Amino acid sequence: MFAGKTIIVTGGGSGIGAAVARAFAVEGAKVCVADLNLNAATDVATAIGGIAMACDVRDEAQIVDLVKKVETAFGPIDIFFSNAGLARGEPGHAASASTEVWQLNWDVHVMAHVYAARAVLPGMIERGQGYLVNVASAAGLLNQIGDAAYSATKHAAVSLAESLAITHKADGIDVSVVCPQYVATPLLDMDDDSEVGGSLISASEVADCVIAGMTAKDFFILPHPQVADYMALRGTDHAHWLSGMQALRRKFLHESESGELGEMYKFV
Ligand SMILES: NC(=O)c1ccc[n+]([C@@H]2O[C@H](COP(=O)([O-])OP(=O)(O)OC[C@H]3O[C@@H](n4cnc5c(N)ncnc54)[C@H](O)[C@@H]3O)[C@@H](O)[C@H]2O)c1
Repeated sequence: MFAGKTIIVTGGGSGIGAAVARAFAVEGAKVCVADLNLNAATDVATAIGGIAMACDVRDEAQIVDLVKKVETAFGPIDIFFSNAGLARGEPGHAASASTEVWQLNWDVHVMAHVYAARAVLPGMIERGQGYLVNVASAAGLLNQIGDAAYSATKHAAVSLAESLAITHKADGIDVSVVCPQYVATPLLDMDDDSEVGGSLISASEVADCVIAGMTAKDFFILPHPQVADYMALRGTDHAHWLSGMQALRRKFLHESESGELGEMYKFV
């Protein structure tokens, strides 16, 4: 289903985006690797025979321009993989991140997905086909302890993906939302060589799940299958789920060596 397709991957210069861009290329797709960091995007694109574009996904004009340039190079966009993201954590209490950091999370995790959909949906609707894949997080279904701005905006990203799926199924548009827990990428100060295990998986494992999930046209792509169980618990016994999260936070605070969010995977 990917051979010959035109695909844009944002945040494709690193981590999950780079692994997914590689996987799409292996499947025979024409891939544009877009990133704020053009050098990183160029390295990935060169290795897979794709093209690289600089793009700040917070800026709608840059996304419109990206789509135009890729359509000129490769033809209409078949798949837009909105993946760019960041995690800043919070310095103190759950509302302590600055307004700038909250806005940054909102712009990158939500508005970038809105801008991508706006840019490609009219053409996809006209052609009667297209696929929007948005990378949210398990934090968008559950919660990320220590990062309220990340959790809240990833929840919004999941909700936006649901709206896209509900509204545009009849137009022939498919929608998936990718919701991993911990992945060894620079976002957690790790990389492809980091030792994985338990709740920590590699970016290429996420890419394999993306290929399988998109092939099955699953709405939720859950590289950590246990997330479905936690979602079910949250839905059926919220008090139990919430007290479990509070206990997890206490354990992390008492036992974590660094106190860094990047170490949280050891406790999940
Ligand atoms: N690593 C994890 O544990 C994890 C877990 C769940 C979800 N995610 C999500 O996966 C996605 C990819 O994260 P990753 O772990 O590969 O991180 P990463 O830091 O390795 O890669 C993120 C990429 O996004 C790019 N980027 C950031 N802001 C941008 C902007 N404004 N415009 C364009 N590009 C921008 C960065 O330059 C970088 O190349 C993110 O949305 C993240 O929230 C990651």
